[in-house]
Amino acid sequence: MSVPQFLSNCTADAMALAAVALKSGQLIAFPTETVYGLGADATNKQAVARIYEVKSRPTDHPLIVHIASTNEMQKWASDIPTFAVSLARDFWPGPMTLILRRSRLAKDFITGSQNTVGLRVPNHSLALALLNEFSKIGGAGIAAPSANRFGRVSPTTAKAVQEEIGEFLSEKDLILDGGPCAVGVESTIIDCTGDAPRILRPGAISAEMIERSTGLIISDHRIEEIRVSGSLENHYAPAAKVILCDIPTSGQGFIAMASQETPEGVIRLASPANSDEYARVLYSALRRADELGLSEVVAMQPVGIGIEVAIRDRLSRAANGR
Ligand code: TXA
Ligand code: MG
Repeated sequence: MSVPQFLSNCTADAMALAAVALKSGQLIAFPTETVYGLGADATNKQAVARIYEVKSRPTDHPLIVHIASTNEMQKWASDIPTFAVSLARDFWPGPMTLILRRSRLAKDFITGSQNTVGLRVPNHSLALALLNEFSKIGGAGIAAPSANRFGRVSPTTAKAVQEEIGEFLSEKDLILDGGPCAVGVESTIIDCTGDAPRILRPGAISAEMIERSTGLIISDHRIEEIRVSGSLENHYAPAAKVILCDIPTSGQGFIAMASQETPEGVIRLASPANSDEYARVLYSALRRADELGLSEVVAMQPVGIGIEVAIRDRLSRAANGR
């Protein structure tokens, strides 16, 4: 069995070498502030094809292109509306992906043959170091979906990446360890191809933040069919069955705010003190349920209109999973 290189000491020199590996077509799993991504040179068709193989993901599902800074937006997108520029200015680097009309650089193998491209500047020092080194040697962007097998829970630690996809990577591929992810759920995806922003996937950048930044009311108008694999109903699912907002009974796993007590015989998987912490620990708690071989997990839905919307979204998809 081939084993990817696992890099815990990510020095500047190591990032320069990693960028060269990317340029030569290798895959690199790297941390972002949301979840770990599985990266490839976004202009290299063969390398991108390997992402789909490793993830076992249908090839018509588009990938997000990660870029080093807002200045690189024009390379990948055209007809960028003013409100998208406001969003980029206010929230990049950060947990937000903008869907824009594609430029000629964004080929069908990135966009799933759609005429749009997803762009994001991640807010993580390692991801930005890798993107900057890649840019220095002529790289235009890194295509990176979450580093999990299709339909499964996204990894928020390098160890989880190794467990998810390590066996499908080659010894020339790399996994960069940048510690646990600070946000813990995937970026907010915003469709910017209409007259007003439209949220395709909720995340840490909330509807309220988007409206404040753009001065526009978020549109829920469906202009055309857009494929977002993360919006499939049974995404983000562990092997254990997830049950929402029930009273847990003995032998079941339990995820709830710290203020809620653990009934006798129940296996407590997470006790976050607030919603940000809930988002941060959610996926590792679901993974732990699988490690412990639990068949059922009860999760309480947090109340609120910020990151709580994203947590409820992922929980309800996890609950639909099995
Ligand atoms: O936080 C994140 O966004 C993470 C980190 C690694 O950046 N990435 C991530 O990628 O979650 P992925 O591939 O697991 O989810 C990205 C979603 C997919 O559901 C994909 O269909 C959608 O973004 N997407 C990408 N490009 C798109 C496009 N042009 N139009 C519509 N949806 C798009
Ligand atoms: Mg994903």
